[in-house]
Amino acid sequence: MDGAITMPPPCDAKRISILGATGSVGRSTLSIVADQRARHGDDCLQVVALTANRNVADLAAQARRFRPDFVAIADESMGADLADALSGTGIVCGAGAEAIEEAARREADWTMAAIMGAAGLRSTLQIAERGGVIAIANKEALVCAGSLLMRTCARTGAKLLPVDSEHNAIFQVLDPERRNAVVRIVLTASGGPFRSWTMQQMKTATPAQAINHPVWSMGAKISVDSASLMNKGLELIEARHLFDASPDQLEVLIHPQSVVHGLVEYMDGSMLAQLGPADMRVPIASTLAWPERIATPCESLDLAKLARMDFEEPDNERFPALQLARATMEQGDVACTALNAANEIAVEAFLNKRIGFLDIVALVSDVLDAGQPDGSLWDGAPESYEQVFELDARARAQAQQILKQKYSR
Ligand SMILES: NC(=O)c1ccc[n+]([C@@H]2O[C@H](COP(=O)([O-])OP(=O)(O)OC[C@H]3O[C@@H](n4cnc5c(N)ncnc54)[C@H](OP(=O)(O)O)[C@@H]3O)[C@@H](O)[C@H]2O)c1
Repeated sequence: MDGAITMPPPCDAKRISILGATGSVGRSTLSIVADQRARHGDDCLQVVALTANRNVADLAAQARRFRPDFVAIADESMGADLADALSGTGIVCGAGAEAIEEAARREADWTMAAIMGAAGLRSTLQIAERGGVIAIANKEALVCAGSLLMRTCARTGAKLLPVDSEHNAIFQVLDPERRNAVVRIVLTASGGPFRSWTMQQMKTATPAQAINHPVWSMGAKISVDSASLMNKGLELIEARHLFDASPDQLEVLIHPQSVVHGLVEYMDGSMLAQLGPADMRVPIASTLAWPERIATPCESLDLAKLARMDFEEPDNERFPALQLARATMEQGDVACTALNAANEIAVEAFLNKRIGFLDIVALVSDVLDAGQPDGSLWDGAPESYEQVFELDARARAQAQQILKQKYSR
């Protein structure tokens, strides 16, 4: 070695797509793409498709910069605006749910699934059906249809690479050849903005306070989920599917510094952890390069400056979402579909100031207790995606009904 710094190698040239490109994860993904292109030239990563829900301006700006073959906007009424914004570029535009699915179906070597909520299930499913590599950020797809999605991937050979920082950490340290030697899988949680708040304080918490996450910068829905710890509950269910773990193998630890993202304990007492900065570009880059590594523009951790790391048990009294999600996971897949749908309605109602912060988990719990609109329980496992969509719709209707009866002012 002559001490010269060598240029880190690019990931293999890839054709990639990003579903949910205008969101927090989508933008972080494009930041990694831009960084790789700056290091290795534009050909190292070619963009096949980009999608958004309604944000035409940002989607068009991304398309002009990254030159995908195809862009899709979910809201059909915005289709003409998108076509106008990209006229003369030669980029093919589509609008509506079918266009988002087309973006997912287009052949790509790696596809980021970063649409928010159960709305991402159809497109995630399309990538799985074509046997693609799925960088999965869209945790709600795994929560509402985890068994079906895992079975589809097994059938088609699709590969799921976890993007959620905790699951990505576990993916990095979980030895699939030694799966039987795993005793425990630990997901860490920052504790969110209300980690040390009293119930009284949380009762009057505003959307702006809930979204103001102390460590991570994320979209509104996941930020509220982080504040209630429902995010960690959803992640337990996500981990169960991704790592084929039993509920009693999965644990959550509050770790306010968010430096250790996930840990795996083996039967000999060894615990392996992944550490990294609280920057989603790290797990995104790890899935983009997998099984290789690429350089990122992220700041490296300064452990000496950090000086200490704290870990504590979650407080289940102040944050009942975690226990609710755990009980739901044990109840079965249908209950998980209902939990996710009810939570999406409850978070939206909170963001629109229709309910208070503590009402979010109370409403989800009410939906699970009330059962389906026809009186049957949220029991069993859905056997098809059609059943998942039907159950998701029923849980949303039940949540809206309870919202109207119990919370309309
Ligand atoms: N943010 C994070 O750091 C983070 C970390 C781990 C996991 N995740 C997960 O990653 C996913 C995305 O999170 P995010 O924070 O990036 O969300 P976000 O900032 O709200 O962005 C969501 C993206 O999905 C699009 N979208 C929303 N509704 C849609 C619909 N009905 N049909 C098609 N597209 C739709 C949005 O388009 P518009 O911009 O047009 O609305 C946007 O591109 C979530 O499942 C979240 O749990 C996020």
